[in-house]
Amino acid sequence: MIPENNCSLCALCEFRTKIVMPDGNFDSNVVLVGEAPGENEDLTGRPFVGRSGKLLEKIMNAEGIKRSDVLITNTVKCRPPGNRDPTKEEMNACRPFLHYELSGKKVIVGLGRSACRDLIGYEGKMADIVNKEMTITVDGKEMVFIPAYHPAACIYSNESKAELRRTMNILKNKYLG
Ligand code: URA
Repeated sequence: MIPENNCSLCALCEFRTKIVMPDGNFDSNVVLVGEAPGENEDLTGRPFVGRSGKLLEKIMNAEGIKRSDVLITNTVKCRPPGNRDPTKEEMNACRPFLHYELSGKKVIVGLGRSACRDLIGYEGKMADIVNKEMTITVDGKEMVFIPAYHPAACIYSNESKAELRRTMNILKNKYLG
């Protein structure tokens, strides 16, 4: 299930240039879920191509993972104005598309607070759950969920960067082979 080109299920449609659809390997067992498109993503229609995307790719590559090894998507497909967090209503409106993207996957990486809020209803500190693997049920199917730092949080924090690299190490060694 994918959004119509003229999707207006939530108010983000008023601000977007392009709907940002998933990118990477649709057949992968692993999906990385970010928060929402930023400016570069809104202009290009591709997730994680701006500053945090470049850092994400660098950290993935350092652990031997390519963009084409995983599916990369976001909780919402349109850019919130000023890059604010997507609201619960906006995430609810986009959830059917996200769940469609998650179907058949074995491992979901929730990049940052919004993804963890959307997928496991977590409202606490990321530091308390990062890299603690758990099992969640999505549309009746059990999947591994790994909470991870959002790459934007790693730009100025070497500690967070090291934890995100650990996330990628877990993926590479345990789930991507
Ligand atoms: N941040 C996100 O969460 N997603 C993107 O696609 C880009 C930046």
